Amino acid sequence: MRILVSGGAGYIGSHTTLQLIASGHDAVIVDDFSRSKRSVVPRLEALAGRSIEVREVDLTHVPATEALVADGGFEAVIHFAGLKAVGESVEKPIEYYSNNLGSTLSLLAAMRRHGVPKFVFSSSATVYGENASVPMKEEFPTSATNPYGWTKVMQEQILRDAAVADPSLRVALLRYFNPVGAHASGTIGEDPSGIPNNLMPLIAQVAVGRRQKLLIYGDDYPTPDGTGRRDYLHVEDLAAGHVAALDRLGTAPGVSTWNLGTGTPTSVKEMVDAFARACGHELPVEIAPRRPGDVAESYADPSRAEAELGWRAGRTIDQMCVDTWRWQSNNPDGYPA
Ligand SMILES: NC(=O)c1ccc[n+]([C@@H]2O[C@H](COP(=O)([O-])OP(=O)(O)OC[C@H]3O[C@@H](n4cnc5c(N)ncnc54)[C@H](O)[C@@H]3O)[C@@H](O)[C@H]2O)c1
Repeated sequence: MRILVSGGAGYIGSHTTLQLIASGHDAVIVDDFSRSKRSVVPRLEALAGRSIEVREVDLTHVPATEALVADGGFEAVIHFAGLKAVGESVEKPIEYYSNNLGSTLSLLAAMRRHGVPKFVFSSSATVYGENASVPMKEEFPTSATNPYGWTKVMQEQILRDAAVADPSLRVALLRYFNPVGAHASGTIGEDPSGIPNNLMPLIAQVAVGRRQKLLIYGDDYPTPDGTGRRDYLHVEDLAAGHVAALDRLGTAPGVSTWNLGTGTPTSVKEMVDAFARACGHELPVEIAPRRPGDVAESYADPSRAEAELGWRAGRTIDQMCVDTWRWQSNNPDGYPA
């Protein structure tokens, strides 16, 4: 299949692009490089052993997206492109709504005009809102607590409505839990701009000496060690989930929703200990007050993806930490400009 990978220069998109190519697909990256570096491309090409077509387009630009899809010959779009920082979305809601909804709308319009039938969407466990019980199941109601989360809820709804109106459209809504880790080569990985929002890049930056200590927000949650528990999955397992979902869209009509997680939660303290084993030294931590909006536990029921996609996130927490450490220690400042 010839596949357009939007946001393919980003963290999850880059790992997925490699797996698509390894599975025999032809992957074309489209990215505006607003949140990624061009230097990822030669690294991807070295790992893939071939050149990769890259188009620099802002997907909120309707005519440019139309032109990209018109002459692309694509059979599917995997839509990673978007803005993803929760805190920033509270400060800049208009930017988040216009970028995340705008890119989805212009892609959908161009796909309909040019008969591209398959759409795989990067959704998030954030659509379960803050009051969901665990483990989280796909049929739970959706809601959000911040503009980023609302963009995901809204994009899911836009895709459901588009599929009702156009029965030839096949959509996979992939609700990721907490992707971490990096490619085993240590040459590509997560390189957040500014202060990271997520635990793993913060831990990695403390381990490599870019930050003095890790703040643990709350150790009085009703969990075994008092720290929050999340469902971390290796980015390589997540990438494989996209390849499996794409294959499944060959036969699944309409909209399919799949949780992509391990189903097993890990606490902040457990993750810090696993990372210390991976990097070979203890990490300085400090306990800070809970943050508003954080929940004690969030983890998936991944049984639908296991049954319908034949997919499981099997890599362990130790593998996630070892691979993150290889990437971070080889690239302490992330990608070169
Ligand atoms: N990383 C996570 O923890 C996580 C969890 C759940 C869902 N997601 C979703 O998965 C997707 C990918 O996440 P990621 O971690 O790889 O993020 P990322 O920031 O590394 O990658 C996103 C890419 O999209 C590009 N982009 C942004 N706006 C664009 C536009 N208008 N036109 C073209 N390109 C644009 C950026 O330059 C970047 O390369 C996002 O939609 C994110 O919301 C991520």
